Amino acid sequence: MKALIIGATGLLGKALTQEWSGDEVVGLGSRDLDIRDADKVREAVEGYRPDWIVLAAAYTNVDDCESHPELAFAVNRDGAVNVAKAARRIDAKLLFLSSDYVFDGRKTSPYKAEDERNPQSVYGRSKAEAEVRLLEVLPECCIARTSWLFGTGGKCFPDTILKLAATRPALDVVSDQRGSPTYSVDLSRAIVTLCRSQASGIVHVTNAGECSWFEFAREIVKGGGLATDVRPVSSQQMARPAPRPAYSVLSAESLQPYGVTMPTWQDALQRYLRERGN
Ligand SMILES: NC(=O)c1ccc[n+]([C@@H]2O[C@H](COP(=O)([O-])OP(=O)(O)OC[C@H]3O[C@@H](n4cnc5c(N)ncnc54)[C@H](OP(=O)(O)O)[C@@H]3O)[C@@H](O)[C@H]2O)c1
Repeated sequence: MKALIIGATGLLGKALTQEWSGDEVVGLGSRDLDIRDADKVREAVEGYRPDWIVLAAAYTNVDDCESHPELAFAVNRDGAVNVAKAARRIDAKLLFLSSDYVFDGRKTSPYKAEDERNPQSVYGRSKAEAEVRLLEVLPECCIARTSWLFGTGGKCFPDTILKLAATRPALDVVSDQRGSPTYSVDLSRAIVTLCRSQASGIVHVTNAGECSWFEFAREIVKGGGLATDVRPVSSQQMARPAPRPAYSVLSAESLQPYGVTMPTWQDALQRYLRERGN
């Protein structure tokens, strides 16, 4: 099998490039290919002729998306459509990374793959619209929604908490948003399995279990051997430009047909801390 990873320089892309062995894998960053350029996307895809394309490229700064909606839609929706059209031309399969932010967060039990989208932010809307368009252009594509991604390949929540906790006696962290942290290594392994299983349709891929950002931060500080006091605060007290869903746990039901069982987020966090050398 030949795989093309678009967005290979990002947090997930780096882990996926490292984890994917036994197949021919090519990775591209935004300097190699800007997915907003349909002609260049077609040229690249026709040049490599992959069996699978994993589209991990996105404009991922959720708060900046609020002030740059045109860029968010150009990259996250229209760029994804460019890749899907190029994949269709050569009959390649596509796995597109999407987000828990396509949901409004009003549920109190895990979101199923078929639950209605109702994004609350520009970033969430750009991903939700991408999903709808991709399913029109390439009905057999695979849409893998994930959440609260962390890993050693870039900026992420545990890294920020560890850096802040190293210099501060106390940290305030929101306790009224619940989700599932996801380790880039575990997500990468699941993606490889999905591609090898010819997956199609919407699947939810996160580490098992759920927590609030506050609970996650407390576990990170403890795991990092730090004494910093982690204090719970509300989203209102920590207002940010983009609204976040209060609850965005994704049900693992859609992964079962592929025989993928995700480790718990606590187990994943321990492995992440070891990978960092903590
Ligand atoms: N991070 C999360 O918590 C989270 C949660 C749910 C879903 N996701 C989704 O998971 C996927 C991977 O996320 P991530 O955290 O790994 O993202 P990331 O670290 O921000 O990496 C984004 C990647 O996209 C590339 N990129 C950005 N604009 C591009 C453009 N116009 N053309 C081509 N490439 C472009 C970047 O390339 P350069 O670095 O070379 O510029 C980079 O390789 C994304 O689809 C994201 O929406 C992430």
